[in-house]
Order: sequence, then C-alpha cells, then structure tokens
Amino acid sequence: MQTTVEPESVKADAKAGAPKVAVRLENLSKTYPGNEQKAVDGLSLEIAVGEVVTLLGPSGCGKSTTLRMVAGLEEPDEGSIYFGDEAVVLTDTGFSLPPEKRNIGMVFQSYAIWPHMTVEENVAFPLKARKFASAEIKPRVEAILEMVGMAGMEKRPGPLLSGGQQQRVALARALVTEPRTLLLDEPFSNLDARLREQMRLEVKLLQKRLNIAILFVTHDQVEALSLSDRVALMNAGVVQQQGSPSMIYEEPANVFVRDFIGKTLLFKGRVETANPAGPMAIRVDGAPDCVVFGRSYHAERIEAGNAVFIGIRPEDVEILAASGGEAPPGMIGGTVSTALFIGERFEYQVAVDDQSRMIVYGGRHDPFPEGAKVWLRLRADGHSAWPLDQSTRETTEQ
Ligand SMILES: Nc1ncnc2c1ncn2[C@@H]1O[C@H](COP(=O)(O)OP(=O)(O)OP(=O)(O)O)[C@@H](O)[C@H]1O
Ligand SMILES: [Mg+2]
Repeated sequence: MQTTVEPESVKADAKAGAPKVAVRLENLSKTYPGNEQKAVDGLSLEIAVGEVVTLLGPSGCGKSTTLRMVAGLEEPDEGSIYFGDEAVVLTDTGFSLPPEKRNIGMVFQSYAIWPHMTVEENVAFPLKARKFASAEIKPRVEAILEMVGMAGMEKRPGPLLSGGQQQRVALARALVTEPRTLLLDEPFSNLDARLREQMRLEVKLLQKRLNIAILFVTHDQVEALSLSDRVALMNAGVVQQQGSPSMIYEEPANVFVRDFIGKTLLFKGRVETANPAGPMAIRVDGAPDCVVFGRSYHAERIEAGNAVFIGIRPEDVEILAASGGEAPPGMIGGTVSTALFIGERFEYQVAVDDQSRMIVYGGRHDPFPEGAKVWLRLRADGHSAWPLDQSTRETTEQ
C-alpha cells in the first residue's frame, strides 16, 4: 500500500512565509540494468534551506540510490531534480548537470579520506580542484577544521586518525566549499555507539550554524528521529510516509511505518463512536470498563460497532499489581508469564485477559514475579486504530 501524506513544509508554505526550497525531487524513478524491481519508485521530496530531511528505511529500500541521483552519481530514468529554482535533472529533455557543477557536499559511511594526505591537505583538496588561490585556501581550511573540532591536527596524516576524527575530516572536506546542500549517507555507522551520539549532536549544531539543507540517509530510527526536521520512511523504493519525527511516530500512515518505528502493542477492541476526522472511542476487549481514543488513516473504513485493533506504544502502558476483583476503569487485567531484566527496566510478557500476550515495560525496582496478577493501565488517548486486516506488515523487508 502506498500512502501519500502531504509534507509539513508544504502545509507551512500555505500559511506563513514560504520556506526557501533547497532541493526538490519530483517523481524520481530508477531501475538498475538487469534488475526487475525499481530501486526507487516515484519518489517526491522537498528539502527547505536549513532543514534536515532523513531517508529512513531497511537495507535495499533505495536510500543511497536516491542520494546518488541528487549528487549526480546515478541518472534517474524518470523525474526531475531542482536545486532552488534551478533545474538540475530533467529526464524529459535528457538534461543533467554534471556532478562537479552541483555544489553539494557528500559524506559516506566509509570515511573516504585520502590516506596519503594530511588532514589539511584532505580538506584543501576540493578548493584546489576548483582553483582557489592559496591565500584563500588556508583561512577557509582553518575555519572549517575549527568548526568540526579538528584544529591543531592539521599536519596529522590520514591513517593516524581515529574513526571519529576521520569522519570529522570528511565532514570538513564536504563543507569547505560552502555547499548549499550536504548529503550524508550513513556517515556514522562505522563509529561506536557513544561516538555516534556525539557526532549526531555535532552535525546538528553545525547545520544550525551554517543553515544549510541536509539530506541524511540512515536505517537507524533513533538517528533519524533525533536529527531530522522531517523523515521520509521508505520501503522497496517507495516513500511510505513523510512528516515530522513525532508525526511519523504518533500517526503512522500504514502498518509498515507503525512496525518499523518503535514497538506497537495491538489490543483488540470495538469502536464505540466512529470519527472520520479525529480520534475515535474504542472499548478494549476483556476489560470491564476501558475506553481509549485513537486515530486511524483508515477511518473511512471504520464504523461504530466494528472490531478493530488499537495500536498502543509500550511506553503508554503502565503495569500495576492487581489488588483483587475486577480491573478498575481504564485498566485491563493480565498475568505475568515471563519477566526479563534488561538493565534500565523489566520487560514482562503478560497474558492479557481476552487478548494476546504482550510485552509490557516496568520499572527496575520491585519487579513482578512470574505468575503475578497485574493490571495494565492504558493511556486514555493518542493511540492508533487499525481495521482487523491491518494486523501485520503487508510489505516485507528486503
Ligand atoms: N549499482 C547497482 N547495480 C544494480 N543494483 C543495484 C546497484 N546499486 C543498488 N542496487 C539495488 O538497488 C536497490 C536499492 O539499493 P540502495 O543501495 O539504494 O539501497 P539502500 O536503501 O541504500 O540500502 P542500504 O541500507 O543497505 O545501504 C537494492 O535492491 C540494490 O540491490
Ligand atoms: Mg545505502
């Protein structure tokens, strides 16, 4: 299933002063020779000046191909690419601006700094290639190395740098020509977890300072949610949903998005009041008195009285000791079948009354033993509602 959701930047255009578009991709498609399936299929996306947009998705979904088409390293079969108002690729007419004229910076997963050069030679290289005067090169290199936290390491040869330092040099080299757009393809995936977090923060700060557009590629959802103004989630070459990180998390447009980002518990319930435009009230099966509210992208297919699934994020479920009798309003009963200690919390598998088994999170203090009777308190609203045929992923990862 494909769901097209209007990007928030487009909505913003209509209201306030329109943000300046840095990059616009229109209906891009690409099939590699010899492949049957399209690597990228009808992709449209806009990146405003000063915005970080992330392409997120499983391996092979077409993220790098998209980035490489923007850079000019691959030609699309169909579609157009614009930088601001300037056409860069028009497949209709066969026009394609050569990569070196596109004025973009790129950083890839492999550090790709030149090992036979020092730090400053690496960073100066793009300026020399563009025939900048040496009097101009030096201050520019110094300034950008300062910005990425590599001042003082100018003379260090490439091979004597740590992974994080090499990525900083690669970043400096990509930024030294003051590109209007920076393309980052999994730039942190070879770094350890702590360094990755640090680099994420640094790139965000740098981006705010330089106010450039960044198109970022990752398959790491935390990286995507934390770094981006907008996320485009892809599967099998197709953008499944694009929107702000919170929108993607709170209002997944389809089962793929719901199950790719975070975890979701599916409770069975019955619709009390349908609502095509907003949250609908759903009574949870197996609970004496538990009605919660959720929105659905399939609201037009859902009527009062219908059986549905309610998608509830585990952090919206609280686990409490049952103190005899029926579960109070807003809660549902269950029995702990396994308790796993994972450090910051316990993860309980709970056999929920009249529902399936669910993984529920609890604090690490005073854990519940296996066999304990518990009540689950469900947050009253902010959930998603799904017709019964939307229980599992319909698009499989490649
Ligand atoms: N040069 C190529 N020739 C043929 N097929 C290719 C080529 N490059 C990529 N593909 C195929 O195109 C599809 C998309 O690949 P792409 O590299 O864009 O995926 P990706 O989303 O970047 O994946 P990953 O997260 O693994 O980097 C895949 O099925 C891949 O096998
Ligand atoms: Mg890739």
